[in-house]
Amino acid sequence: PPPPPHFFFHAHQAIADAQESRGLGDVYKRQLLNIAMTLERTFVAIKPDGVQRGLIAEILGRFETKGFKLVGLKQLTPSKELAEKHYGVHKDRPFFSGLVDFITSGPVVAMVWEGEGVIASARKLIGATKPLEAEPGTIRGDLAVNIGRNVIHGSDGSDTAVFEINLWFQENELVDWNPSDQAWRVE
Ligand code: RTP
Ligand code: MG
Repeated sequence: PPPPPHFFFHAHQAIADAQESRGLGDVYKRQLLNIAMTLERTFVAIKPDGVQRGLIAEILGRFETKGFKLVGLKQLTPSKELAEKHYGVHKDRPFFSGLVDFITSGPVVAMVWEGEGVIASARKLIGATKPLEAEPGTIRGDLAVNIGRNVIHGSDGSDTAVFEINLWFQENELVDWNPSDQAWRVE
């Protein structure tokens, strides 16, 4: 049967679907599971401070050298509407209007990264929200000192990843491709 529409965006749902699917052979089921796991995607954005400070290559490089697959990449200055939707969960917080002003103040580099476990792993690579509490070796731990200038955003779960990817990217802006050395990254 063809995969459901959310299949390529919602890895956890796809994994559950594959596990529950009846009438499929074990081999096929395992293949579906493998595909679902490796198709996990997350939304990452270099905030205006990261762009202004010339940190695009440094930050992109952390994900690229880690071995995840880049499937979406663009630079844009977000509209107020986009920023308010993106940070909608924080709309009643005192820092909300300042955060929206900041994120719309200049270019942002928006990315979608793909790979097994990429949502949680990206959050680890990014580090704690407060840069002074972020571990050395993380992006915020190495490159930032202030919570309001913490250089990067990453989706915090599978639901927010789906929401944010769909908010920032059109489906035809995401590229399905296979790195030629993929077999040297993933067994
Ligand atoms: P992000 O959403 O940007 O990836 O950051 P996060 O998950 O680590 O942190 P979150 O709680 O979602 O907060 C979103 C962003 O709001 C700014 N913030 N400022 N001044 C403050 O007290 C404060 N608290 C949060 C930060 O830029 C944070 O990244
Ligand atoms: Mg957040």
